Amino acid sequence: MFSQVARLAAKRLLEVRRSLRPAPPVVFAAAAATATAATSRSFSTALNYHIDSPDNNPDMPWEFTEANMERVKEILSHYPSNYKQSAVIPLLDLAQQQHGGWLPVAAMNAVAKIIEVAPVRVYEVATFYSMFNRTKVGKYHLLVCGTTPCMIRGSREIEEALLKHLGVKRNEVTKDGMFSVGEMECMGCCVNAPMITVADYTKGSEGYSYNYYEDVTPKRVIEIVEMLRKGEKPPIGTQNPERIRSGPAGGNTTLLGEPKAPSCRDLGAC
Ligand code: FES
Repeated sequence: MFSQVARLAAKRLLEVRRSLRPAPPVVFAAAAATATAATSRSFSTALNYHIDSPDNNPDMPWEFTEANMERVKEILSHYPSNYKQSAVIPLLDLAQQQHGGWLPVAAMNAVAKIIEVAPVRVYEVATFYSMFNRTKVGKYHLLVCGTTPCMIRGSREIEEALLKHLGVKRNEVTKDGMFSVGEMECMGCCVNAPMITVADYTKGSEGYSYNYYEDVTPKRVIEIVEMLRKGEKPPIGTQNPERIRSGPAGGNTTLLGEPKAPSCRDLGAC
């Protein structure tokens, strides 16, 4: 009886010891397991786990520039001082803009320090939202909407055309560092599907822009890429000349213009 109890106690002790063993040097272990599992599913984010590398490790010095520190203070002023953690998303966004479009672990740690939370609280936000990039992106990061309305209207062909034209795989950066192609979920422009977004990191956080190009075709997205390459500014919004000429039925449907309701005169009722 005693030896049986002793055996059970030893087994339990072994289990406890195993559970207390230090984790391997991977920050997001659960996601790493997912990434290594054989799967044919495509993900919108490039990386959900972290492995130290020379340009992405916690010992790298990283801090906001002096100008951005002013913006950090301004952002923090929007929240009560005991709810600094509410600023996590705008601060990560600013850090990403400052760092050329992606977030090294040192930048996430810097944000954690400012909002006074454990770094993991910041990692979980950065890995949840696909607008935060955990690997390098091009100066122009092109995001193709992959959700159902855009998919039905040809987003797969749009992505294929971009990848082929730029000679890259999804989330890979072109050799000249200019372009990368990623995928986003619905960006709220389904009425003008398919659409892409261009995140422009060419001018750092000061000149950062994030523009929508709607009603695109495989031919048109390549034209947009070539205009960006030449430093030109492709017109944002719908790329369908028919829609530009006629406008949507019933008047404008975006906040860029006043919606025009038909008057009783238009309807012949007065
Ligand atoms: S599905 Fe693409 S914008 Fe909504």
